[in-house]
Amino acid sequence: MTQLNKEKFKGRDFISLHDFSQEEIAYMLKIAADLKRERKEGIPHPHLQGKTLAMMFTKSSTRTRVAFEVGMYQLGGQALFLSSRDIQLGRGESIADTARVLSRMVDGIMIRTFSHQEVLNLAEYATVPVINGLTDLLHPTQVLADLLTIQEHKGELAGLKLVYIGDGNNMSHSLMFGGAKMGMHVVIACPDAYRPNPEIIALAEEDAKANGGKVEVISDLQAAAEGADVLYTDVWASMGQEQEAEIRKQAFSSYQINAELLKAAAKDAIVLHCLPAHHGEEITHEVFEGPQSVVFDEAENRLHAHKAIMALVM
Ligand code: CP
Ligand code: NVA
Repeated sequence: MTQLNKEKFKGRDFISLHDFSQEEIAYMLKIAADLKRERKEGIPHPHLQGKTLAMMFTKSSTRTRVAFEVGMYQLGGQALFLSSRDIQLGRGESIADTARVLSRMVDGIMIRTFSHQEVLNLAEYATVPVINGLTDLLHPTQVLADLLTIQEHKGELAGLKLVYIGDGNNMSHSLMFGGAKMGMHVVIACPDAYRPNPEIIALAEEDAKANGGKVEVISDLQAAAEGADVLYTDVWASMGQEQEAEIRKQAFSSYQINAELLKAAAKDAIVLHCLPAHHGEEITHEVFEGPQSVVFDEAENRLHAHKAIMALVM
């Protein structure tokens, strides 16, 4: 079983990749790869025996829920699914009180919700590590799995051109943070009205400068895709934006990964999507099912990446 060096991680929250150094992210990726190999070889790794993770969900989830829940079992611990529909939080109990109650009983808290501030409040009051399983602002656990996937297929991260096409949303933000920290060239191609949050762009630019990366936001997707090593997309309307779906369909209609766009990318470019995907909208069915798509490797890597996060911080 891989020995873990938890020195820099134990007790820490995992809320944004901006909070971790390049070296720390590289170490998390190494542990994720080790855990993946051990799992495939049938080597048990009960790093979290006797520990419990509470998983609070205010939004739907397939991958995140299953990855954390199964990951916890594989690490020898237990996971507890807490839907906001069922716990007292949904009836008005405060985040501060919920954080302190859960901290008396569990060893870590994963949360998926709308407001990023809610996660920051939870972390302020919790005395156990808090893991951000997606907010309207960020989706860092997804990007750790994405980096693992890119590293597996490309052998490295630094210097690669990653082009994200679509909405300047939580995925675009976390990709800028993760990519910048790892010395990648991250290009966000989006309509002018849907640019990423300017504060996140500024922070990612600082991260890029300090780590040999580059961050760009442009509206010309053909120019963006030129020579890309990785093409990435996400849904046009995120969770909570259902009522804007029709307007967004029009605004994003040309922001699609299709066979034509793929021609502008490097010959050996890979295609990623955090999923769930809307085939025929942000990505054509042909590309989704095509030889350059690695979306199911990426989905599987949620399990291994999340196990690394939990094993290190809990
Ligand atoms: N990509 C992702 O977070 O998937 P879920 O919404 O299914 O968890
Ligand atoms: N941007 C999407 C990501 C889903 C994993 C959303 O927030 O719904």
